[in-house]
Amino acid sequence: MRYDNAVTRYMKKVLIGENPSDAEWYEHLLMFNRLHPGGTPKIFRPFTNADRRSSYELLARAVAAFGPAANVIDIGCGDGALVPDLRRVLPDALIVGVDISDVEIDAARLKVDDKRVRFIQAHAAKLPIASDSIDAVVSHLALMLMPDVNEVLLEARRILRQGGRLAFVVDHPGGRDEDSMAMFANAGASIRAQYPGFAQKNPGDQNFRDATAIDEQLKTLGFHNVVMTSIVTTAQLNADAYWEFFASTYVIGM
Ligand SMILES: C[S@@+](CC[C@H](N)C(=O)[O-])C[C@H]1O[C@@H](n2cnc3c(N)ncnc32)[C@H](O)[C@@H]1O
Repeated sequence: MRYDNAVTRYMKKVLIGENPSDAEWYEHLLMFNRLHPGGTPKIFRPFTNADRRSSYELLARAVAAFGPAANVIDIGCGDGALVPDLRRVLPDALIVGVDISDVEIDAARLKVDDKRVRFIQAHAAKLPIASDSIDAVVSHLALMLMPDVNEVLLEARRILRQGGRLAFVVDHPGGRDEDSMAMFANAGASIRAQYPGFAQKNPGDQNFRDATAIDEQLKTLGFHNVVMTSIVTTAQLNADAYWEFFASTYVIGM
C-alpha cells in the first residue's frame, strides 16, 4: 500500500503541538487533495446506517424532502461524489459543485457526465453566484474543515433565495463508536510516541462539530427552522481499508 504523505508546514506544527494558521491549514488541505484526489468517497461511501443508506444518500434525501429545487450548490464537492445521490432525488435540478481544490474539480469534471451539472473552483466564502438566486445549498463532510465557516455560512445565506434551504453533514467525534474511538486513540498514541508534543486536534472551526454550537451559530446568522439529526453509520473495514483510511486522511491522527 502506498503511503506518500507530503510534509507541510501545517503537519510540522501539529506534530510538535503548535497552532498552525488558517493559511497553513488550507495549504495542507490542497497538498493532500493533490496526493489523494477523490479520497473522501473512497473512505466514507461504504459507511451506512441501519437501513444501509450512506450519509451521501441521507443528505440528498433530506434536501429533497423540502420539495423540488431548480438549482443546488454543493459546497466542498470534492470529486462530485454527492451528485448521483442528488440527481436521483432532484432529477431536474441544475447542480453546481464548488471546491477550493483545482485537482478535486478536475477529478469531478472527469467523473461526472451530466449536462445539468457544473463545477467551479472557488473558496466557499467567495462564490461567483448571484444573491437570492439558489433554492438549496448542500455540503457533505466539508464545513467542519473550514476555519472560516462563519463566512461560508454567510455566503450561503447571501446566495439562498427567501425560503431556500441549507442541508449539510458534518463529522462529530462524539458520534463515533467505541471501535473507531479506539482506532483514533491508538493512532494518536503511536504518533505521540515519536512526537511527544503532538495534540490530537481537528482542523477547522472547533465549534462546528458540536450540535448545540452549530444550532446557535445558524440561528445567530438568521437561519430558521433548524433541525439537527444524528446519523450513525458503520462499515466493516479490512486491514487494507483501515490503512487506506489513515494514509489518505489529511486530519493527522484524527
Ligand atoms: C472531506 S472532503 C469532502 C468531499 C465531498 N463533499 C465528499 O463528501 O465526498 C472536503 C472538501 O472540501 C473542500 N474544501 C475545504 N475547504 C473549502 C473551502 N473553504 N472552500 C471550498 N472547498 C473547500 C476540500 O477541498 C475537499 O474537497
